[in-house]
Amino acid sequence: MRRNLIFFLVLLAACSQKSAEENIDSSAEKEQAYIRAIEGEDEELDPEIIKRGEVLIAYSDCATCHKSDKRAKGPAFQDISKRYPIKEVYIDLLARKVISGGTGSWGSPVMSPHPDLKEEDARAMASYILSLKE
Ligand code: HEC
Repeated sequence: MRRNLIFFLVLLAACSQKSAEENIDSSAEKEQAYIRAIEGEDEELDPEIIKRGEVLIAYSDCATCHKSDKRAKGPAFQDISKRYPIKEVYIDLLARKVISGGTGSWGSPVMSPHPDLKEEDARAMASYILSLKE
């Protein structure tokens, strides 16, 4: 009887451990599927431009949908920085997306367009966002 109980407890411990590991695996997989990191070497960013991007973002409406480290209506800026390597092409791509708005690259919510934003300013904002990469 005692032996059965011990056996049962060991089995229970083994099972709960396994399911904890599975949970970690599947949340890591989910994160990977959400981030969809693009391979590529990071290039140096100009600290002046990063600073300007940060200020421009603070004075724009970005915070109504974006947080730095948490998903809101829009993806977390840190998640965006994990997807794109720091390269001119991606800074261009993101700057154009901020100006035109759009959907589909992080799910179904829609980013409003910012047609009055100068391309240079949108690029500074994109540079700041990519600089959040650890
Ligand atoms: C109305 C809500 C909203 C506002 C305001 C907003 N965003 Fe977004 N943003 C989103 C959503 C939603 C997405 C995801 C779009 C997608 O899945 O294609 C997004 C995506 C992005 C991306 C990633 C684009 C990509 O294709 O990977 C960047 C960069 C970005 N936003 C920057 C900004 C900046 C900078 C501002 C302020 C000027 C801003 N956003 C304002 C909702 C918003």
